Amino acid sequence: MKLIVANWKMNPVSVDEAIELAKATDRENVVICPPFVFIEEVAKVVNKGKLGAQDLFWAPPTGGAAGGVVTGEVSAQELKNIGTEYVIIGHSERRQKLGETNQIVAKKFAAAIDKELIPILCVGETLEQKKSSEKEEVIKEEIISAFQNLKIKNWKLKIFIAYEPIWAISTNKNAKPDKPENTLETISFIKEILRDLDKNLSRFTHFLYGGSVNSKNAGEFLKYEEIEGALIGGASLIAEEFNKIVDIAS
Ligand code: PGA
Repeated sequence: MKLIVANWKMNPVSVDEAIELAKATDRENVVICPPFVFIEEVAKVVNKGKLGAQDLFWAPPTGGAAGGVVTGEVSAQELKNIGTEYVIIGHSERRQKLGETNQIVAKKFAAAIDKELIPILCVGETLEQKKSSEKEEVIKEEIISAFQNLKIKNWKLKIFIAYEPIWAISTNKNAKPDKPENTLETISFIKEILRDLDKNLSRFTHFLYGGSVNSKNAGEFLKYEEIEGALIGGASLIAEEFNKIVDIAS
């Protein structure tokens, strides 16, 4: 089964709209990632689907010896406690607009896994990096830094990697979706890196594509076995459009 992840970003602006959208898109094999402020209310109406968050902070909610208290942040444990099962890590908007480095992303990724939240690790290159043939190097660094020091206690846990070329994300100027063949190539490139790191990794790592996915192009990506789902921004806010994608996926 394919996994369809709704990344609502900073939408909608009211809890009533969030509940309405969640009810209308609560389907099997769907993960709904609302803004933090709505997760708890959305959790009450999501039954068939699963709940996800868009980010977390790696430190525990109390300082103590770990000394991790950071004003304004949300911990993996807090997310777990309100029923969150998935978490998006290292989305390109956070990397680009908030300066999230590979090191920061690696800590968040490890924190998610430590608390048994299923991470959706986002990787992908900018248009400039693509043009200057740096794509592979950038993705390799993103993958290696996230996985190299990872300590996995629960080998049943799934890990999702979302290949999201930054130039393909609909909120960016002149965005257009990747070509499915390129996504396939990128996925095999990432699989090779994972195999080199640890041959066990490939057994529980799954791949999503993200970037301007809609009901017209979803089928072109999802028809491939290697593309195990999609991470969807803009189209996840329109219930009818999102449900069409879920229909295609199933
Ligand atoms: P998009 O966003 O579907 O609107 O391109 C995807 C994302 O940013 O995760």
